[in-house]
Amino acid sequence: MTAALCPGSFDPPTNGHIDVIERTSRHFQRVVVAVIANPSKHPLFSLAERQEMLADGLSHLTNIEIDSFDGLLVDFARRAGVTVVVKGLRAVSDFEYELQMAEMNAALAPGLDTMFVTAKPAWAFLSSSLVKEVARFGGAVEGLVPERVATALKERFAAG
Ligand SMILES: Nc1ncnc2c1ncn2[C@@H]1O[C@H](COP(=O)(O)OP(=O)(O)OP(=O)(O)O)[C@@H](O)[C@H]1O
Ligand SMILES: [Mg+2]
Repeated sequence: MTAALCPGSFDPPTNGHIDVIERTSRHFQRVVVAVIANPSKHPLFSLAERQEMLADGLSHLTNIEIDSFDGLLVDFARRAGVTVVVKGLRAVSDFEYELQMAEMNAALAPGLDTMFVTAKPAWAFLSSSLVKEVARFGGAVEGLVPERVATALKERFAAG
């Protein structure tokens, strides 16, 4: 069975993430969407919250599994039974870092390939960090993130 892994921090998921995962799901029978726990990055949303937001934003797809991991991506990929990692590429700025990660992962786990999906032009400049920055100062992020995420951002910043 062909399976792909879409890893990310998803703090929070944006329409750009949803688009890449949707498109990946059309080409693979099984797509594992894995949230990188990475507590050292001080995420705005907990692991459980990020997983719930992804499950909600991807509820229209039937071949998605939501999971999470800590540590090396190659170890998780082996446990999850996937041989392809699919990543989204936005501007040139993503390229260097993503290429580095892809080469390192291939060196650590021969046989694990990374494939890139170009960002949809509408989301080419969208990132979780930018969305958080805008929401923090009361800017409207509706239309850039799933509805549930926009609500969660409003609540988070109203509270804090
Ligand atoms: N707007 C987008 N279009 C296409 N791919 C995207 C988009 N945003 C993120 N991705 C891809 O999704 C994967 C996970 O990204 P990540 O969780 O780091 O999101 P991010 O928006 O870059 O967050 P941050 O701003 O915290 O770095 C990466 O492969 C990244 O390139
Ligand atoms: Mg990023």
